[in-house]
Amino acid sequence: MNTPTKVLVTGGAGFIGSNFVLHWVEAGGSVVNLDLQTYAGNPENLASLLGNPRHILVRGDICDASLVAELLRQHRPAAIVHFAAESHVDRSIAAPDAFVRTNVNGTFTLLEQARRHWSSLSDHERSTFRFLHVSTDEVYGSLKAEDPAFCETTPYAPNSPYAASKAASDHLVRAYFHTYGFPALTTNCSNNYGPFQFPEKLIPLVILNALEGKPLPVYGDGGNVRDWLFVGDHCSAICNVLEKGRLGETYNIGGNSERANLDVVKTICKLVDEFRPNPAMGPREKLITFVTDRPGHDRRYAINASKISAELGWQPSIQFEDGLRQTVAWYLEHSGWVQNVRTGAYRDWIRRNYDERVAQ
Ligand code: NAD
Ligand code: TYD
Repeated sequence: MNTPTKVLVTGGAGFIGSNFVLHWVEAGGSVVNLDLQTYAGNPENLASLLGNPRHILVRGDICDASLVAELLRQHRPAAIVHFAAESHVDRSIAAPDAFVRTNVNGTFTLLEQARRHWSSLSDHERSTFRFLHVSTDEVYGSLKAEDPAFCETTPYAPNSPYAASKAASDHLVRAYFHTYGFPALTTNCSNNYGPFQFPEKLIPLVILNALEGKPLPVYGDGGNVRDWLFVGDHCSAICNVLEKGRLGETYNIGGNSERANLDVVKTICKLVDEFRPNPAMGPREKLITFVTDRPGHDRRYAINASKISAELGWQPSIQFEDGLRQTVAWYLEHSGWVQNVRTGAYRDWIRRNYDERVAQ
């Protein structure tokens, strides 16, 4: 599939989805963007597309079968790129219901409507149609320090309600390919960072707290390891899989950038000190506060991305330290965006998640 092409994107007002929509439209394609605009969905991410006829934002739910069917009938997209999900592990621990609803039932509804639509297409349209399911490395569970990185054949072992709901959706996608020959592909990516990430996740939360001189909450001993990928590199990987991926396959996507949380937090402190020196506050590292660990906290994630590299020629292009520098600069330059996302609902979540975590 070569852009320009019309795609149906779900969850395209969220962090990764909005980066993808901007990327796709910039490349000349067009997008019908189905997003419920939950707390994590923010049309402001797409403000630069206002009035652009190649982007249509529809506020709606992937669980709404008739809406999905109508959008497919009306717009006849060449592909569906499925980002919509509840995505925050801590929220899945506090209230898992929405994760099962959207991630499992919503993906099922989308798949079923997409399959029906696909069956009704002409032979040519049917042969080029694609359904790309965007998933996570968290479905594989937790690694020990000495374990090899996750590859596509690593057995699933999800540990959080979030990871379990994504694993369930991955299995449905797999079943639709095997049972119906439905042209699905799945990507399992490591932790993303970059512009437009909602500041409940580690990197934007720490940037903003460091800027404002608030405590920087590190769960447990700070030794948990994540692999980090700049969001633009994730978008380019998705485009590669859409264009060249083999049907029914899964592709792991990663940044070759394993870092312990404490190191990530310290690096952010140095960058904020550099961009916004504040002698009265002193070095931001002093704000680091070890707090009660996340229940069931996975120790380490790491991705072996050799399949997508060998088959599709994709590689990450941005080094973690460069991407983090760009990301810190972006948050400092977009104080209006930051102010708008930190609504009452956001403040409630911060209170709920951190008030009960005791400083260790
Ligand atoms: P996000 O939480 O920032 O955005 C999710 C979007 O989905 C929001 O715009 C929200 O409004 C929308 N949404 C939620 N429920 C919906 C529903 N029922 N119907 C329609 N829209 C709905 O998430 P993100 O970080 O951008 O993640 C996007 C996808 O990528 C998710 O599927 C996630 O599992 C996956 N993923 C994320 C990461 C990461 O590090 N953020 C890494 C790997 C994979
Ligand atoms: P997060 O950004 O929530 O992503 P995920 O849980 O999907 O990996 O968290 C990244 C890591 O940072 C994870 O090990 C949990 C940890 N963490 C903290 O130490 N403090 C925090 O306040 C948050 C939100 C996360």
